[in-house]
Amino acid sequence: MASLNDIRSTFTGYFARQGHAVVDSSPLVPRNDPTMMFTNSGMVQFKNVFTGVETRPYDRATTSQKCVRAGGKHNDLDNVGYTARHHTFFEMLGNFSFGDYFKDDAIAFAWELITRDFGIDPSRLLATVYHTDDEAAAIWKKVAGFPDDRIIRIPTDDNFWRMGPTGPCGPCTEIFYDHGDHIPGGPPGSPDEDGDRFIEIWNLVFMQYEQHADGTRQDLEKQSIDTGMGLERIGALLQGKHDNYDTDLMRALILASAEATGTDPDGPAKMHHRVIADHLRSTSFLIADGVLPSNEGRGYVLRRIIRRAVRHAHQAGARDALLAKLVPALVRQMGNAYPELSRAQPMVTETLRGEEDRFRKTLERGLRLLDDELGNLPDGAPLPGDAAFKLYDTHGFPLDLTQDALRERGRAVDVEGFDAAMEEQRTRARAAWAGSGETADAAIWFDLAQENGPTEFLGYDTETLEGQVLALVRDGARIDRAAAGDTVAIVVNQTPFYAEAGGQVGDTGTIRTSTGTARVTDTRRSAGVVMHLAEVVDGALQPGQSADLEVDHDRRSRIRANHSATHLLNEALRNALGDHVAQRGSLNAPDRLRFDFSHEGALSADQLATVEAEVNALIRQNDSVTTRIMSPDEARALGAQALFGEKYGDEVRVVSMGKRDGSGKGTDARTYSLELCGGTHVGQLGQIGTFVTLGDSAISAGVRRVEGLTGQAAHDYLRAQDHRMAALSNLFKTGPDEVADRVRGLLDERRRLQAEIAQLKRDAAMASGGDAQDINGMQAVLQTVAGVSGKELGPMIDAMKDRLGSGVVALIADTGAKPAVAVGVTSDLTDRLSAVDLVKAAVDALGGRGGGGRPEMAQGGGADASKAGEALDAVRALIAAA
Ligand code: ALA
Repeated sequence: MASLNDIRSTFTGYFARQGHAVVDSSPLVPRNDPTMMFTNSGMVQFKNVFTGVETRPYDRATTSQKCVRAGGKHNDLDNVGYTARHHTFFEMLGNFSFGDYFKDDAIAFAWELITRDFGIDPSRLLATVYHTDDEAAAIWKKVAGFPDDRIIRIPTDDNFWRMGPTGPCGPCTEIFYDHGDHIPGGPPGSPDEDGDRFIEIWNLVFMQYEQHADGTRQDLEKQSIDTGMGLERIGALLQGKHDNYDTDLMRALILASAEATGTDPDGPAKMHHRVIADHLRSTSFLIADGVLPSNEGRGYVLRRIIRRAVRHAHQAGARDALLAKLVPALVRQMGNAYPELSRAQPMVTETLRGEEDRFRKTLERGLRLLDDELGNLPDGAPLPGDAAFKLYDTHGFPLDLTQDALRERGRAVDVEGFDAAMEEQRTRARAAWAGSGETADAAIWFDLAQENGPTEFLGYDTETLEGQVLALVRDGARIDRAAAGDTVAIVVNQTPFYAEAGGQVGDTGTIRTSTGTARVTDTRRSAGVVMHLAEVVDGALQPGQSADLEVDHDRRSRIRANHSATHLLNEALRNALGDHVAQRGSLNAPDRLRFDFSHEGALSADQLATVEAEVNALIRQNDSVTTRIMSPDEARALGAQALFGEKYGDEVRVVSMGKRDGSGKGTDARTYSLELCGGTHVGQLGQIGTFVTLGDSAISAGVRRVEGLTGQAAHDYLRAQDHRMAALSNLFKTGPDEVADRVRGLLDERRRLQAEIAQLKRDAAMASGGDAQDINGMQAVLQTVAGVSGKELGPMIDAMKDRLGSGVVALIADTGAKPAVAVGVTSDLTDRLSAVDLVKAAVDALGGRGGGGRPEMAQGGGADASKAGEALDAVRALIAAA
């Protein structure tokens, strides 16, 4: 019996032999479509190739594509478990032609593969075509030899395939398998076509048109082919089963679920095992593709699927996290075909376990409440909307979980009542918000959030994305067009742009629509809505348009490196300085990082060097950075550092990086750094490159700041330092290692020379001075001296007084703008004259103030050296009058 794994490779192998490139499945979160929640078919990754916007190095391709149909337009969640062929996750096998072959070859390939390679009995097969497609009907006749009654013309959309409301589309032909008249059901197009007798196994779409949002349809430049065959369905057929859940792969998962719960796979819990097998696949693959449980957008769909599975696991008797336990069984089945699943196994397991454990805590209480409510209702009455809302609001029961639980008991929920209760809560939130003192300007963000939900941020995994423009906002009001030169805040449904938060600056980049381009200069968030602050640089933008969003990759890479380095720095500082180090603020910009933390006193050069070396050792470790969602308590138990002064909701994002050698704290003892953080980080620590600190400084009492550089900026900085060093070596004509000695030698020499010069100047002044005059019977030397500083006047005066034996000396040092004056009086004359009085008079004349000292010696400073003559005259006059 061919396993699903065999069938998958037979399919892609067949088309590889027909010249098709075997292309990997694209991720479950489409990056090239603004309206699609999850990849729902094989052609999604080729959407822009069909329309000619994108080219690839091949014009034929084959894939096995991961698909999820839950939560979006194609939503099969409600039926899973109850039917033979509904899944939230399935694999779509497909072959594609991009302007290469068309209907002839597409039908011929399909016929050959299913009748020869798969060995399906041709007499069991029939085809449908779009009612006007004579060409396809004729090809079937020729290739398969079908009589007319086995080529059924269908006039409805069943044979016109569209990816969604917009995008490539075209008529299709579907291949059906007839299980025989012992099974009830009629052929396609007949009133009882929904029976199980005739099962569609392959859809071949003749891509001919592109559907636009305004309802118009345009011919594609190149006619193309897109086909889709559900692996589970063809597997069931080839394995002689009627139910997709009886195929080898699904059965293995069901058996694993039965074994883990100690129940019979086909007993009373049969339906639960089917749901668990299906939900295990969708949730694990979604997590492996970067979706994490949350309360909005895709994360909420994931959460709903997990919670739905938790209830079924509970009904099946599981008392712990069942999905998490089953991940190894899934990886055994599918890890070879999808290596990304194997790679993400630890992350998937941990995310599932956390989410399951958290919900199990409220599940039982919710189920009891549900029972009580039902006990009070008349038989068969629907559950009132406010009860369903209470289950949602207080016990975390998504509406579909409540509906699913009631379905088992043949009851429904009053959905209108539920919606009304939800609306009421929104109104209350709005009223509370309006009273919270926010500016009227901010009201628009709140309204946008209410209208469209918060903007979904996908920038952890991608820097480019297609989104839909929901609104253009200018001066607090919506506008319906922004043209070149306008500055505007652009709101989209999903974005790769990081909005400034937690010290990480907002992203910049471009947003392009078919009619215009805007340059995003900053990104902020308000009320959950991301504002892309932008200037339209070309054409014009309008709400409703699809837009290509592209983050400035280089800048984001540098921000990422700085942010991850900040986490390492935080831990290295704690290791070097002690556990009192706690974050007080941070900045993660493209050009630098800074980290503020509690600590008294400056860091020594040694401490800084130790911290820098430790961060660089971690970078060289090149460990991968991982992100997990958990409750704040779990995070604390692991030893995550809670940030100062922040409030946390029910769950937090925990970023871990690096391995430590010794023993760490908490249960996650081997992890170097564990922080609650919503920012973006490098994938591997090696991407930080290198780290340098630029020293530390004081910010406020008890708070220090370390600044640093990483990657190219760090390298550039070190290079520049090296250039400066080289210039110095050159100048000093010595090697870099000897520069410091050489400078020290030069400084010593300079000091010695300065002393020598001062002495020489004093000697020169003494030699020229000393021409004493007799005033009022006293010897007086009154003189201006050039080239000496005020400091040197004292010793000169002492020397001159010694020489005179008895007399008065007044010297003015003419050092340029600010003259200094000193006066000496020998002690035998101090009863007639005080040096202090003389200096005061001189200072006065020099335009200065004060001056003082002792009667034998006084000094002062002036403002105007040109008044030196007047100053000496004033001194002379006082001596004459003494
Ligand atoms: N895109 C087509 C489908 O999903 C083949 O059925």
